[in-house]
Amino acid sequence: MNHQIIILTPTIINIYGEIFSVIGTIISTEDSPNTNRFKFVVKKEVKKNSYVKINNIIGFVDELESSNPYYQSADSVAYYEKEQPLSKIYPTEQSEFLVASCQIFGELEGGRLQRISQPPKPGQNVELADPKSISKVLGLKENGLWLGDLEAHDMEIEIDSNKLLKKHLAILAISGAGKSYFVSVILEELMKKNLMLPIVLVDVHGEYVSLFEELPDGIQKKINIISDVKIGFKNVGPSTLVQWLPLSRTQTRDITTELYKIEKEVKGAYDIDDVIERVEKSDARTATKNSLTKWLSYLKHYGIFGKVDSITVDELVRPNQLSIINLKEIDNNTIKQIIVSHFANLMFNKRKNNKIPPFVLIVEEAHNFANQSSKDKNISKHVLETIAREGRKFGASLTVISQRPVQLDTTILSQCNTHAILRVTNPNDIKHIQESSEGFTNQIAKDLPGLCVGEVFLTGEAVNKPLLFKVRRRKLRTVKEDKTMDEMLKEWGDGVEKEKTNKIEAFI
Ligand SMILES: Nc1ncnc2c1ncn2[C@@H]1O[C@H](COP(=O)(O)OP(=O)(O)OP(=O)(O)O)[C@@H](O)[C@H]1O
Ligand SMILES: [Mg+2]
Repeated sequence: MNHQIIILTPTIINIYGEIFSVIGTIISTEDSPNTNRFKFVVKKEVKKNSYVKINNIIGFVDELESSNPYYQSADSVAYYEKEQPLSKIYPTEQSEFLVASCQIFGELEGGRLQRISQPPKPGQNVELADPKSISKVLGLKENGLWLGDLEAHDMEIEIDSNKLLKKHLAILAISGAGKSYFVSVILEELMKKNLMLPIVLVDVHGEYVSLFEELPDGIQKKINIISDVKIGFKNVGPSTLVQWLPLSRTQTRDITTELYKIEKEVKGAYDIDDVIERVEKSDARTATKNSLTKWLSYLKHYGIFGKVDSITVDELVRPNQLSIINLKEIDNNTIKQIIVSHFANLMFNKRKNNKIPPFVLIVEEAHNFANQSSKDKNISKHVLETIAREGRKFGASLTVISQRPVQLDTTILSQCNTHAILRVTNPNDIKHIQESSEGFTNQIAKDLPGLCVGEVFLTGEAVNKPLLFKVRRRKLRTVKEDKTMDEMLKEWGDGVEKEKTNKIEAFI
């Protein structure tokens, strides 16, 4: 037998390496290559949303088209296929090819991405970009928050927590696309990395509460759950009260005078009844007194006012603590808005005076707290808009989550410098997001309805280029996760049965 020995010299290794890593060849088309885009014919499997390179030029595959010359002419395909499939007559499979369309991001020089001045040339080899180059281009951070994976490259996506949260974040998608799951992954990472940042989360359905019942190893943040929220009327300043009630100028002036007086004269805490009594006894005009007492009694009937807040802002906003305001038991949307308005106002005012540390306020179902329509009661919209506009100067950061982007206040949406967008199907929602989100290309708009659960487009401040990735699986577990209808039915039945037994036992 004749064995041939091949000696692998460095040159041969290089040549082979290059041949194996080449995934395609640039082709010349009517409109490319130019300095923005190029197309290449695929030699080796390449996925949509892959990052590719031609020497130091980095590009992104934003579309793949398959083609076959045998099937280009409709009349001949129709003619031949009458008798039998075309593939039976001709070797059609051998003529199939795939063309990748790429956006050019720029050229990496000395670790920095530069604009290119010369387009790549037809015939040049295209290779898959390496994770290090991808990281540089996207502005990812080593040891940042691991939020998910770049599926096309089997690469972890680590985002700079500062860039993600400092200048407000909007998380938008249809119901069930994975918004809350994504938030819980962000929280899990912040806790795992032991980042001291205080977080206050408005949990509308109590879903996060159940998530933190069991903490996995390595999570050190303190969880502070605030249920059964009460508001101490002494802490409600006149400027906040004006946001809650449609008061006239005279009414505002009179209630402000009364509130200042009571604050000065009463040493301890007081509640809404004390204020009503003061207004009744005040020397304001009878008509003003009547309408003020009417409005205050109206507030009182919500049943959430007491003498003191159920938690002080100093306890709520603490380094290394995640505070969850649990609104699950509250059905009335006005009450939810009053609670959010109250605590957000106190937090922002205290932060402005440097009395509490910088914080992140996360608001689930934000369209219910800051609705675009002026017709809806928008008790909490004013303060959320203020935090969105001025918060970044003071280290007060907002994260809004919504399944109805079109209903979310546009001021807030446009102040969010980072947008995380999961599956969105409604064209109005897509248009609305596109109008307020930088870097939101037409291609992203086209791709949004086809995203799977947990796939997210991240655009804006947190990343240098829009980025699509799959949110990683979280370690935190919720008891309610993925329950089937049967399981929910059984649980409900067990609950009813237990209630019956309790009643019978009490009777006996
Ligand atoms: N990245 C992911 N990996 C695995 N499962 C996920 C992922 N994202 C979401 N899910 C699952 O999809 C379901 C819906 O997710 P989630 O509750 O986060 O949706 P949502 O967008 O917050 O919906 P809603 O608007 O109704 O609140 C959940 O069962 C969740 O466990
Ligand atoms: Mg949710």
